[in-house]
Amino acid sequence: MEKIKLAATSAFGLEAIVKRELTDLGYENIVTDNGWLYFDADIQDICKTNINLRCADRVMLIMGQFEALSFEELFDRTFELPWEKWITKDGKFTVKGRSVKSKLYSTPDCQRLVKKAVSKKLCQYYDTDWMPETGAEFTILVSIHKDIATISIDTTGAREGLFKRGYRESSMAAPLKETMAAALIKLSYWNKNRVLYDPMCGSGTIAIEAALIGRNIAPGLNRNFASTEWPLVKEEYWKNAKIEARKNIDFNSDIKIYASDISEKAIRIAQENAIEAGVDDCIEFFVKDATQIEKPMCSYGVLITNPPYAERIGDEEELAKIHKRLGQVFGKDKTWSVYVITSSINFEKEFGRKADRKRKLFNGDMRVDYFQYYGDKIPTEGREE
Ligand SMILES: C[S@@+](CC[C@H](N)C(=O)[O-])C[C@H]1O[C@@H](n2cnc3c(N)ncnc32)[C@H](O)[C@@H]1O
Repeated sequence: MEKIKLAATSAFGLEAIVKRELTDLGYENIVTDNGWLYFDADIQDICKTNINLRCADRVMLIMGQFEALSFEELFDRTFELPWEKWITKDGKFTVKGRSVKSKLYSTPDCQRLVKKAVSKKLCQYYDTDWMPETGAEFTILVSIHKDIATISIDTTGAREGLFKRGYRESSMAAPLKETMAAALIKLSYWNKNRVLYDPMCGSGTIAIEAALIGRNIAPGLNRNFASTEWPLVKEEYWKNAKIEARKNIDFNSDIKIYASDISEKAIRIAQENAIEAGVDDCIEFFVKDATQIEKPMCSYGVLITNPPYAERIGDEEELAKIHKRLGQVFGKDKTWSVYVITSSINFEKEFGRKADRKRKLFNGDMRVDYFQYYGDKIPTEGREE
């Protein structure tokens, strides 16, 4: 079986979670560099990773990696790569680029040059002087970091990264990306034996992602990827990867997730999204003002939530009331764990306690903190630290 090199890309702060996901899928010798997690794979793994990874942004096929100190070097080394193996005669190939701390700092020039080199190679191979570019999508990325160029093709799709699961037709303002919501859950001590509560659920992303994790439903089962159209990634590979993923679904566990919001519209949208994702039986939705919430009648629950951002919706005073209530209701029960993602600098003060851990993350471009308060573990439960 022919070996290829793939890389899962990760948002800042989530590299360790993506690495754990790759390890759980059976990959070894994963090398992390600047938010990219490289691993050796077969062509079938393009399907397996795209379908199963919950927290990665996308899966890149690594075409080559080399030092590029001049445009000539970049052109020649790009030309040498086996483009004809992947890109069809009618393939539509666009080039994106980025360059950091490198001699070749002009990204548009690098992009133009790579496009030219790939074009020349393909025209030579297909014996034509013009590529129609009407077929499958191949988005090439030239990424230069400290003079080392990494040339890759996006197997996931330029417009729709792995965050796109296909269940979120509508959303409220400021929704979390599905990949981020899944990561928040993976960073918590929640598992399907515990109750989960999101009291500011918006479009329901955290609750739905938790239900998908609890049911072990692969996030990419209901969508296509750019590489679905690539001849080398055969239809049967996709079919087999989906059959395998479906075999792993746990339909039987009793999963209990609560999700509420002050907005009736949000709850309606969240419910529709949960139905679309096929996990509405796991989640109880209700309308509730978070300044008046109560704790569900159970111990060892996990609260994960994403309160409104003061700069976008809501105001400081209202936010302080919400944080305070969370602290009063959940912060005092030693069996409950609390996880809050927010950009509010007053959160700990208003919640009433310093977090056990504060993790720096980015929600899109916004710098946020993930405040983590660890409750007691269930006496019978092992814990992955
Ligand atoms: C940042 S959004 C949450 C987005 C959600 N994580 C998602 O992915 O769609 C904050 C949510 O808090 C809700 N909210 C604002 N004030 C609230 C309050 N007092 N009680 C409950 N929910 C509130 C808003 O309606 C909004 O849906």
